[in-house]
Amino acid sequence: MSENTQKLWGGRFTGETDPLMHLYNASLPYDYKLYKADLEGTKVYTEGLAQLGLITKEELVKIHEGLLQVEKEWDNNSFIKMPNDEDIHTANERRLGEIIGTKISGKVHTGRSRNDQCVTDLRIYCREYLSDKLLKNLETLINVLINRAEEEIEFIMPGYTHLQRAQPIRWSHWLSSYATYFLEDYKRLVQLKERLNKSPLGAGALAGHPYGIDREYLAEKLGFDSVIGNSLVAVSDRDFVVEILFWSTLFMNHISRFAEDLIIYSTAEFGFIKLSDAYSTGSSLMPQKKNADSLELLRGKSGRVFGNLSGLLMSLKGIPSTYNKDMQEDKEPLFDCLTTVEHSILIATGVISTLTVQSDKMAAALTMDMLATDLADYLVRKGVPFRETHHISGECVALAEKEGLSGIDKITMEQYKQIDNRFEKDVYETFNFEQSVERRDATGGTARSAIIKQLNSIKHDLV
Ligand code: ARG
Repeated sequence: MSENTQKLWGGRFTGETDPLMHLYNASLPYDYKLYKADLEGTKVYTEGLAQLGLITKEELVKIHEGLLQVEKEWDNNSFIKMPNDEDIHTANERRLGEIIGTKISGKVHTGRSRNDQCVTDLRIYCREYLSDKLLKNLETLINVLINRAEEEIEFIMPGYTHLQRAQPIRWSHWLSSYATYFLEDYKRLVQLKERLNKSPLGAGALAGHPYGIDREYLAEKLGFDSVIGNSLVAVSDRDFVVEILFWSTLFMNHISRFAEDLIIYSTAEFGFIKLSDAYSTGSSLMPQKKNADSLELLRGKSGRVFGNLSGLLMSLKGIPSTYNKDMQEDKEPLFDCLTTVEHSILIATGVISTLTVQSDKMAAALTMDMLATDLADYLVRKGVPFRETHHISGECVALAEKEGLSGIDKITMEQYKQIDNRFEKDVYETFNFEQSVERRDATGGTARSAIIKQLNSIKHDLV
């Protein structure tokens, strides 16, 4: 038997496949990950064939037993790959034939194509991965942020715009901001999962099923919510893969900014937080170094995920209807992205649950100029229009700077009166960071009550 007659599609070929072409074409090195989904798909598909009388009840039992055996071999790492196993679909069918005989196994592919088969497997695989790995871990990350925010609500630190000290905020407010981003990511992922959970099985190579298989039955048995209503679309739609990559890119963007904040906060210059040893590494040259590698990798890997998205979009662009081999290029970026995102969530969770907050350093970084807006608000409360108070407060800051004072709280009453005689003794009560944050109690603000409200709302949305 020549090499080609053993190939699944070998019938019409007479020449040998170029050895490099064989490697170039093969997807088993990575699509073996789909083995469970593939076997499950075949199990249900053959039930559909049995309903049509295309295989007997006895044959179906044999097929199912054989599939179970193949699954066991994959599970315990004893599946032996053969040189002509082009992809997971051909490998599983070849092995099934060895176990139950090709007379029966030769029937399982009746009316099915690898075109509907491979994308059915991929949808099942993605669905499970999103639920078991991404959504579950993301929920834990959000809960860790919430717990920390609840426990450390006392700590006040500078809030920044343009990376310049702006106004005091609670550390919990910062934690809650990322919990809010990640909650939106969580919700988006749930919606995405719903969109992808549609069945392509039974669409055939492209034109539909020649024996009238019950596609709705197949879909239901495989846990899909519905069937894809057009067979051409069923075999060639990879939008769900693009969406996962897009989702991942956006999520990694959030993770990257989260990591960048923590990198800044962990420098000696800031010192707001200390990373635990578990998520830091040393330098091979400088003994004193403790580097925030975990955070730098979270930031760096966002580029890799975006690369996966742009790469796949380029591969898909301009390919004609319907299945074309270009589509096999969906798997490597997808698998790489799923693992990267899963690990990034776990690392981010580890980092945030083990870091130490140095609240004294946070407090020491609070400076009186950060209360200049509060000073303007002081006069607003006395009836002065904000545009005017903004200007007056600016003059106070300038005076303190000119006089070399440590802050606007050191300006004397006399000097205040000179700038504006509506200033009174109670102006000094403004210079209190706790009071400043507590004033911002409208929804979304940095007051204790406002933060607790945010955290409760996130918790509510998560369940
Ligand atoms: N390994 C292929 C993929 O993942 C399976 C589909 C092959 N279909 C075909 N007509 N050659 O895309």
